Amino acid sequence: MNPNEIDESTNNSRNPSFDSVLEARMSRRALMKGSFGLAAGSFFGSAIAACSSSDDNKSLKLDFSAVAKGRADTVVVPAGYTATVLFRLGDPIAAGVAEYLNNGTDAAASYAQRAGDHHDGMHYFGQGSSGGYDANSSGRGLLVMNHEAITPAFLHPLGQTIVAGKRTVADEVVKEFHVHGVSVIEVAKNGGAVTYSRNSTYNRRVTTLTDMTLSGPAAGTAFMVTRYSPAGTATRGTVNNCANGYTPWGTYITCEENWAGYFRRTTATDNAQRSARELASFARYGVAGAGRELWATATATDPNDTSFARWNAEKLGASANGSDDFRNVANTYGWNVEIDPFAPTSTPRKRTAMGRFGHEGAWPGPVSSGKPLVFYMGDDSRNEYIYKYVSTANWDPADATRGMVAGDKYLNDGKLYVAKFNADGTGTWVELRFGANGITGGNAAYAFESQADVLVNTRLAADAAGATKMDRPEWAAVNPANGEVYFTLTNNAASQRPIAATDAANPRFYNDARTDGTAQRGNPNGHIIRFAEGNNDAAATTFRWDVFLFGARSTADAANINVSGLTAANDFSSPDGLWFDRNGLLWIQTDDGAYTDVTNCMLLAAVPGKVGDGGPKTINNTDGAATKAVPTFVGAPLGDEKLRRFLVGPVDCEITGLAQTPDRKALFVNIQHPGEGTPVANIGNPSAWLSHWPEGGSARPRSATIVITKTDGGTVGGDES
Ligand code: FEO
Ligand code: CA
Ligand code: CA
Ligand code: CA
Repeated sequence: MNPNEIDESTNNSRNPSFDSVLEARMSRRALMKGSFGLAAGSFFGSAIAACSSSDDNKSLKLDFSAVAKGRADTVVVPAGYTATVLFRLGDPIAAGVAEYLNNGTDAAASYAQRAGDHHDGMHYFGQGSSGGYDANSSGRGLLVMNHEAITPAFLHPLGQTIVAGKRTVADEVVKEFHVHGVSVIEVAKNGGAVTYSRNSTYNRRVTTLTDMTLSGPAAGTAFMVTRYSPAGTATRGTVNNCANGYTPWGTYITCEENWAGYFRRTTATDNAQRSARELASFARYGVAGAGRELWATATATDPNDTSFARWNAEKLGASANGSDDFRNVANTYGWNVEIDPFAPTSTPRKRTAMGRFGHEGAWPGPVSSGKPLVFYMGDDSRNEYIYKYVSTANWDPADATRGMVAGDKYLNDGKLYVAKFNADGTGTWVELRFGANGITGGNAAYAFESQADVLVNTRLAADAAGATKMDRPEWAAVNPANGEVYFTLTNNAASQRPIAATDAANPRFYNDARTDGTAQRGNPNGHIIRFAEGNNDAAATTFRWDVFLFGARSTADAANINVSGLTAANDFSSPDGLWFDRNGLLWIQTDDGAYTDVTNCMLLAAVPGKVGDGGPKTINNTDGAATKAVPTFVGAPLGDEKLRRFLVGPVDCEITGLAQTPDRKALFVNIQHPGEGTPVANIGNPSAWLSHWPEGGSARPRSATIVITKTDGGTVGGDES
């Protein structure tokens, strides 16, 4: 659980809830009609050729014994596996940078060349002998990862210095600017071990201070004008980079998730200066308040240094367009950002064609020559939506070596869709296009003016289009065997999604009582939904869906709560990270605050089936005297054979980020914020800290990347039997 995570719903639209749209239910048999066989297209050329023989993973078998749930301050992996710490908060990434002291006194400027905090989404890019992208290289590669946020208590000697609501030590803030963003590190296998090269010229940090180009339809528009870039074509930095994506041309996509809370905007003084449209936009994205970490309150020595002031999104200047202040700065955040790890001095580009929301990640669909590229994207807040982007240009394999030039071709021009899940097990992708689907100047909640407006205010456009509110969309993953798309819906709370708002795609409401009796009402354990695109075409506008798995305690009511029949070997709560290895094993990570009375967060491996392998099921929900029966569709139970717990992390961490060398012999996993709930008041007393991982003893805990290998040198997780 991340107490700092800003996931409160700002979605007050009246979108469904299916109560009003329960239509004649199509029989399951009718839904199953038609062919959903394997697509002929390959994923990323030869990189995925190994999968072409796999038929819906039928022959895959997990090869490890399940790890038990537990609350120890350590990483537990199955017998026969080894976990090694690779890259911790503060570790140097350049020659001459001192070892990390890990006591809060490391110099602020040195963090520009150290690992950031809160390691998150991640991808491994193989490197050929010349250093360029080679998707099949396992011996040498670039590991690129996000640093989502910070644990402020452990970054400074005694936590953040705050006097009368202001950050009075500018260096502390500078340090925090540096530990957000992205790391690129070169990794190599030496014998069986994986290490990173401290001195590689590919090593790089992208932070809240890095120059960024705005690209795509919203770039250069009035929405983007700031003192930093009066032309509206650039902005500074990226923040709250949660999950990620990657492209067939070897670039990384980092996704700006809960960015809104970082901006300071005092509504009591600012609202009166803003238009009705601006106010609707601020409200829908949650741009209001003191600003997380209070960055805007620090004072620069140089009056021309706007690096602190730029976190204040209020109208302070006299200009008509915002070229003398940062009133529009929030519009320059909330995007997918493309980074070329193979070009260390290149300027990252924010891809506005992919829309602006709480971007969790951007996962590519199957890649086929002559077909559009498709990216699946979640908006991680309670009751937000699932989106997809379809490029206008069709994929040309010759672009695989063109870096950001290919990015301009495929990611600046395309169609943006939002998902609508129907009660009959079908779904539709509704296009977010100005002038269509209710997205017009006459829309009551927000009067749209242009397609750039739709991209800046994507959430408002999706409201108008009638998208389905979901139980907090987190990661997606695309099955290499059949192109089916899986999405984690991490959890939802009774206060924000009451029993009356359950629907077919978000069907459960229950009380998950903790061992001390504390009630947790709503869908506190989350679920994983999956869908098959119409005609097995990723660009289709219709799909079929079912619920792959419901999180639950294994001891919970099997009829209406533990619907997937989870056992002690595989029960979990709050699925978040989700990733297919190239052999078709599905890896599931948790970011949980509900089952933490029993276990720390975990990683599981699954052999998935396919949409429709289960059947219809009615879930009978209760909340006190209120009841509601919800018909839905549930995947076939996996049992212990096809779903097992692979790893349990240290105390108070989230398990997130997955990457693997193409030979599947080294699995990279991120351990985010061990011990983050330690009260800052306890910072002087190490025995009162919740975690000391990874160093143990009385050390401050550190987020870190670990590498998991099989002791016998084999592939990780399982294989074809
Ligand atoms: Fe940053 Fe969606 O968790
Ligand atoms: Ca977290
Ligand atoms: Ca997450
Ligand atoms: Ca989460």
